[in-house]
Amino acid sequence: MQKWIMSGLFFAACALAIVLMFTLPSREQAEQEAKPTLPEITMNAAGAEATVKANCISCHGDALQGAIGPNLQKIGSQLSAEQLYGIITKGKSGGSMPSFKDRLKEEEIANVAMWLADKK
Ligand code: HEC
Repeated sequence: MQKWIMSGLFFAACALAIVLMFTLPSREQAEQEAKPTLPEITMNAAGAEATVKANCISCHGDALQGAIGPNLQKIGSQLSAEQLYGIITKGKSGGSMPSFKDRLKEEEIANVAMWLADKK
């Protein structure tokens, strides 16, 4: 009788593990959901240039030619506005490219992302 209870519990645990394996979202899915989405705004080049001058040129160079950070002069041919928005919002490489989530408004980040996405 004891044995039956033990193996019953064992199988129940296995079944639960299998169910969890399929129902819990995979790591990849969770990351996708956490990806920030670009707010819909109209691009304003003068505003973007001012934001970039104040926040980015110290690392990316005064003409975005690259310094501590990479050259961004043709970044639009590699990254879309959505991808740029994600990088500027969340940062990259453990903070060597800082997150601007708390320093800039969503709209300002989106504006810069759209402005950079046009640089091809
Ligand atoms: C403290 C220095 C620093 C500042 C300030 C900074 N960046 Fe960066 N940025 C970096 C570094 C370093 C990298 C490279 C990260 C890596 O790929 O390892 C980077 C990478 C990037 C990338 C990705 C480039 C690629 O080829 O993948 C983009 C886009 C970018 N920065 C945009 C910006 C913008 C826009 C601003 C201003 C709002 C900004 N950065 C401010 C240091 C900085």
